[in-house]
Amino acid sequence: MRKKICIANWKLNPETPKEALALFKATQSAIAKVKEVEVVVCPPALFLADISRVRGVSRKIALGTQDAFFENGGAYTGELSPRTAHAYKAQYAIVGHSERRSLGESNAVVGKKVRAVLKEGLIAVLCVGETERNDEGAFYTQIREELEEVLLGITKKELSRLIIAYEPVWAIGKSAENAMHTRDLHEMVLFIRKVCIEKFGKKPAEEIAILYGGSVKKENAHNLLVGGGIDGFLIGSASLDAQEFGEIVKTKGE
Ligand code: PGA
Repeated sequence: MRKKICIANWKLNPETPKEALALFKATQSAIAKVKEVEVVVCPPALFLADISRVRGVSRKIALGTQDAFFENGGAYTGELSPRTAHAYKAQYAIVGHSERRSLGESNAVVGKKVRAVLKEGLIAVLCVGETERNDEGAFYTQIREELEEVLLGITKKELSRLIIAYEPVWAIGKSAENAMHTRDLHEMVLFIRKVCIEKFGKKPAEEIAILYGGSVKKENAHNLLVGGGIDGFLIGSASLDAQEFGEIVKTKGE
């Protein structure tokens, strides 16, 4: 049985360490009674130092980064080293988010990042997602390419630390009714699983958690979870409201 996973992607919010600590503590309270859900918060990396000192970090809420570079040191202005992130208690790293891909990150670069993150012992949250949907189904080809090119060279052993977050780009940052329809989501989850089975074999591929992201709110979380065949969510704007995030985390999948 795969565990439910809810990952908060705060993106470039909030603006100050004080607000970040307040949001983190409010999130801790909102999920205090939750059991059997893996809850992860990915703040802007600069806040990791402050947040990692809060009591209970790693026990109830794990920390992650929103990106990580493929080297741990060198002449790479502005990059974030997976090893440094790990030293600040990050256990997860989102890689290949569409907002980074839109700045020019290719599948080859995302693949290097995934391998670097796994090498440092972190859990890689690989984002894939089509930019648009059309009747011809070209989006399946895009998802297959993203998976095959990025997962090149990943060993079966490393797969236990890989999470796939399916985030259709057209569904990100909207209101609840603009999230994906559950039937389409379920089809895509089966497709992603199939590509992973072809690549890694049935048993290792069955263990990979597949999350959905794209306008997940408290109003649509239940339907997405029940009908979508997913293991949890990657949550953007709704994670900035600790109460709402808490409700999404508590949503039951039955
Ligand atoms: P959203 O963002 O929940 O605001 O749509 C999701 C994401 O980009 O990870």
